[in-house]
Amino acid sequence: MDTPDDICPRPKRFSPGPAQPHAAPIYLSSVYECRDPDQADALLSGSQVGYVYGRDGHPNADMLAEHCRRLHGTERATVTSSGMGALALVLLAVLEQGDHVVVSNQLYGRSDTLLTAEAARLGIDSTRVDPCDLDAVRAAMTDRTKLVVVETISNPLLRVADLSALADLAHQGGATLLADNTFAGPVVCRPADLGADWVMESLTKSMNGHSDVVLGLVCGAELHWQRVPAALASWGMTAAPFACWLALRGLETLAVRMERACRNAHAAAEMLAGVRAIEAVHYPGLESHPDHALACRQFGDRFGAMVTFTLAGGRAAADAFIAAAREIPFCPSLGELATTLSHPESTSHRGLAPDQRAALGITGGTIRLSVGIESTETVLAALREGLAAVGA
Ligand SMILES: Cc1ncc(COP(=O)(O)O)c(C=O)c1O
Repeated sequence: MDTPDDICPRPKRFSPGPAQPHAAPIYLSSVYECRDPDQADALLSGSQVGYVYGRDGHPNADMLAEHCRRLHGTERATVTSSGMGALALVLLAVLEQGDHVVVSNQLYGRSDTLLTAEAARLGIDSTRVDPCDLDAVRAAMTDRTKLVVVETISNPLLRVADLSALADLAHQGGATLLADNTFAGPVVCRPADLGADWVMESLTKSMNGHSDVVLGLVCGAELHWQRVPAALASWGMTAAPFACWLALRGLETLAVRMERACRNAHAAAEMLAGVRAIEAVHYPGLESHPDHALACRQFGDRFGAMVTFTLAGGRAAADAFIAAAREIPFCPSLGELATTLSHPESTSHRGLAPDQRAALGITGGTIRLSVGIESTETVLAALREGLAAVGA
């Protein structure tokens, strides 16, 4: 019986009755009550399906992972506490001291740091290579290479990786291919269908779509999955229940959001391509893009919601554009409902050496747009406001 000074006077068990809740419940509990030691043993050994401790797994993570698994058409999927956690999980599950990884030279800055400097601390060495140059990828592989890592659409210059060709190359060398699919998402591309062994995404971006969670995803085949659950739980990379619940809700509108955002991005790229003050527009949907034919083959008629452009006036022009484009928030992230912009030199790629940035074509004038789901006219008007400040 409860007394007023009980620590926990609320009812511990509550049944909603015979009808199931239509919306997914949130299971915040970090631990589950076991009936007896035999049941705990069965649950912890995996001989019985269920939950014991939140770091090993919980219903909201599994609901989200299952939805993502179906979107990517893979045998297995798991969610992690961030996109970087997803990349780290594959690294920790696949690689060990003495292994070698071939790394695209066009990765998100922190991914590059993880796979080069951080991996080196664990005795894993790496070679950076242009993933669009298949001969260079082949030449970079050694008999110690276990993993090849590329982005489906690279950050920030939106080069497209030939995933089938890269998967063949990796497999011929006895390695596996990991595709970071964050900039595409499963609506634009399903890398596993093209031969990628591992697919990772930052769910923080368009998969959730509302800029209110930080989460990651790893998808893959049963064949490679053996070490994943232990690595996830032992390195403590499990995602929190509420974040998973929010992302699952975001995912329900993914297809319609991406449909509209891709259409808006294409219109924005076409408009920017005709502006004199802009020296380059990068969008795989434009015929001028070096990977346009490959993008059509891999993606069909949707080319993603990211558009990158370089202002001829360098950093000063970028500063003026960002100050004048008041309807486009400067948010160093991407994939939300509203159109946002980022400046790779000062944010996502600040960790690269200046010569690395220059080699990739990132200058002070490079602006990365994440196009949202406003009306097309609203997006174009917001861009024109910024362009007016750079004399366009
Ligand atoms: C392409 C790409 N991969 C991975 C990440 C890391 O994801 P998170 O920020 O969720 O850790 C990012 C973050 O911006 C990204 O842009």
